[in-house]
Amino acid sequence: MRNNRSLHYVKLFLTIISFMLISAEVYAEDELNCVLCHKHRGLSRIDENGEFRLFYINQELFESGPHRRNKCKDCHTDIDRIPHKPAKKVDCTQQCHIIEPSGKKKFSHKNIAETLAKSAHGKLDENGNPKEYVEDYPDCKNCHDQPLYRPFSIYKGKKTPGISKRSISRCKSCHTDGDFAEDFYEHVTTRLHKSRYSVETIEVCAKCHQNEEFRERHNLDDVITSYKETFHGKMVILGSERTPDCIDCHVVAGENAHLIESQDSPTSAVNKKNLSTTCRSSGCHEKAAAQLASFQTHVTYDREKYPMQFYMLIGFKALMAMVLYFFLTLIFFELLRRLFPKFSFFKEKKAENYDEVVSEIKAESESKGKRG
Ligand code: HEC
Ligand code: HEC
Ligand code: HEC
Ligand code: HEC
Ligand code: HEC
Ligand code: HEC
Repeated sequence: MRNNRSLHYVKLFLTIISFMLISAEVYAEDELNCVLCHKHRGLSRIDENGEFRLFYINQELFESGPHRRNKCKDCHTDIDRIPHKPAKKVDCTQQCHIIEPSGKKKFSHKNIAETLAKSAHGKLDENGNPKEYVEDYPDCKNCHDQPLYRPFSIYKGKKTPGISKRSISRCKSCHTDGDFAEDFYEHVTTRLHKSRYSVETIEVCAKCHQNEEFRERHNLDDVITSYKETFHGKMVILGSERTPDCIDCHVVAGENAHLIESQDSPTSAVNKKNLSTTCRSSGCHEKAAAQLASFQTHVTYDREKYPMQFYMLIGFKALMAMVLYFFLTLIFFELLRRLFPKFSFFKEKKAENYDEVVSEIKAESESKGKRG
């Protein structure tokens, strides 16, 4: 089976090579025309671990994605020859050929990596040693694997009021050449609001934080389930984008989304001291009293940690059961009477009585008839 497959891919490979030679003209334009091969949907194989690997690049998606101005080789730096060897993992913090205009330096995501390193998700401790279970800590791709190259229109679905494609015509009245206005307009406006739906953010965090073995290793509660039980969680599941998701509470307003800190850190948005400020961020409970911050998001029914909630739960369960069983019993007897009007637990006795009464009535009416 697997041999058959490899044969198939060898054939495919040869077809591609010949195709490539035929299109030598295209090939000459870009020394390593990656898309020439990678635009073929069938480019895939089963790897050594038995996993299906797709090497197909959807050009349309790529060109509407955030990395459209990158060359393939900006990221896949080790591929310098065709046919090429298996690629190394992409390092998201390496510099690309793009110049960032404010600093006029070659662009990279290094500052994001540095922020991440300072956060609760950083892999090294204060002394620069790897933390315990370091493989549990997220890489860029753990959180950013929602199809890497989705077009803006899908993953930036929400538009902020007052910003419309129509206003781009204003830019065009001065910036007349090419796609300049569109590019910069998109670049800025798509960042004026969240770039993913809250439910997607929760899914990302849940990949680790809901996993039972993970939680045991790190001694963390099931924050996903507890969050989903709150009003905020329920609203988000119903599609609300105005109720807070994990990032809204765990990142100080105005800070980088990657700076999620442990609640013990004095600068954390969920540190006891800062909670009331967090709840009263603009767009949230701006006018609420400071006491609002006593609201608990991640309540579990652990007897030691949350005794009140634990006993409340038991109390409510008992109350539920009592009410439920009381009415169920009532309904049962009611049904019994309706279905079997003559039913009785004291069947025989009643039957006897019944016959007696009937024969008495009969005798009475008979005697009446005779008299009449
Ligand atoms: C001649 C056709 C061809 C060209 C041109 C080509 N590739 Fe590939 N590429 C392939 C094939 C075939 C595979 C699958 C190889 C395999 O089965 O391991 C592949 C696999 C890959 C992989 C996955 C490798 C792995 O095992 O992880 C990456 C990444 C990749 N190519 C990037 C590139 C980049 C970047 C370029 C341009 C610089 C490029 N390719 C140009 C044919 C090509
Ligand atoms: C912004 C960086 C970036 C750019 C630009 C980029 N890639 Fe990738 N590519 C990645 C990352 C990240 C992965 C995931 C694998 C990894 O972590 O190394 C990947 C994976 C791949 C894979 C392999 C999928 C797999 O299952 O291993 C192929 C094939 C590939 N890219 C081809 C291309 C081609 C062709 C282009 C140009 C059209 C391109 N890439 C442009 C970052 C990039
Ligand atoms: C713990 C999860 C997590 C990790 C790990 C992570 N990110 Fe993010 N990233 C987010 C969230 C959440 C946002 C903000 C919400 C959004 O825009 O999707 C974000 C936003 C971004 C943005 C801004 C996108 C925009 O258009 O404004 C970039 C760029 C980015 N991340 C790159 C990286 C890089 C590079 C790494 C690795 C060094 C990384 N991220 C690691 C969760 C993560
Ligand atoms: C009234 C004419 C006018 C309008 C309307 C206008 N611009 Fe500009 N824009 C300019 C001028 C002139 C400059 C150069 C100004 C300078 O360098 O100080 C400029 C500079 C820029 C730059 C900086 C370019 C660089 O390389 O430094 C960007 C980006 C830009 N405009 C985007 C936009 C966008 C997006 C819109 C629409 C929302 C827009 N502009 C609307 C006239 C306009
Ligand atoms: C790849 C796995 C992974 C993903 C995905 C992930 N985390 Fe974490 N998270 C961790 C690890 C590991 C720790 C450190 C636990 C420890 O201190 O032992 C952590 C710690 C935290 C902490 C600090 C807990 C404390 O008080 O000590 C918070 C808050 C947190 N994560 C929130 C998030 C949010 C929000 C998301 C989604 C945007 C997310 N995490 C996504 C693995 C992950
Ligand atoms: C309404 C604000 C709010 C939202 C939304 C929220 N959290 Fe929290 N989170 C808190 C507060 C406050 C704490 C610290 C006190 C506590 O444990 O209740 C906390 C604590 C945590 C902890 C540490 C728990 C521990 O056992 O030490 C993690 C991990 C965490 N949150 C992850 C998440 C994730 C993942 C989400 C999204 C599903 C999320 N939070 C949503 C407010 C929030």
